[in-house]
Amino acid sequence: MHQDEQKALVAKEAVSLILKEIPEGEILGIGTGSTVNLFIDALAPHANYFKGVVSSSDASTARLQGHGFHVFDANEVSSIVAYVDGADEINPLGQMMKGGGGALTREKIVASMAKQFICICDSTKQVDILGKFPLPLEVIPLSSAHIQRILEQRFGGQVSLRHTKNQSSQIFVTDNGGWILDVSGLKIAHPKELETELNQIPGVICNGVFALNPANTLIVSSSAGVARINY
Ligand code: 5RP
Repeated sequence: MHQDEQKALVAKEAVSLILKEIPEGEILGIGTGSTVNLFIDALAPHANYFKGVVSSSDASTARLQGHGFHVFDANEVSSIVAYVDGADEINPLGQMMKGGGGALTREKIVASMAKQFICICDSTKQVDILGKFPLPLEVIPLSSAHIQRILEQRFGGQVSLRHTKNQSSQIFVTDNGGWILDVSGLKIAHPKELETELNQIPGVICNGVFALNPANTLIVSSSAGVARINY
């Protein structure tokens, strides 16, 4: 089965899970990325089942609004029943690497407001140890060179400033006006500790290790079909 078909499969399975386990009239948190796009499309016929959604990126907001979902600002809500998002990597504890799409800060905020995190991905994202996928950090632009030096000296990774895909000379700017540093060459044996330590560097807005608040449920697909794992 092609990877896109596997993504569509987990999107469909997540819709079934949510409609079965979440009562009508709740507010759902929505992540960002190609898997989530398929989830949004699959959830669209049920838009009125929800009071509304909180989105983790401008791209997801536009897609949700196009399908008729009411998108709340995070400041307008006090509780989110569940947060659904993809991942770049997920380990056997449900700890994730995220931020491939550059939406990590809002993803972490919305996820932290939710009662449960439902991760949807294909099995290529399952790893024993996080770090093969470059670790993204969103930073305040004026601190980026300083943070790059700290990361290289303290953690020994190779750090690169993210540029846009279509125009390699143009720096990628997040929805929050931040820049992204991608750190490759790390083997993250202690994700919670690393997540905490990176948060202490002045100028770091957010890092892509999601270990302190891991997934509660994983819906994962492979060529064998779809499986559900609860942590
Ligand atoms: C965006 C993310 C995405 O969840 C992650 O990159 C996975 O994306 P995709 O579903 O396209 O593989 O963290 O910031």
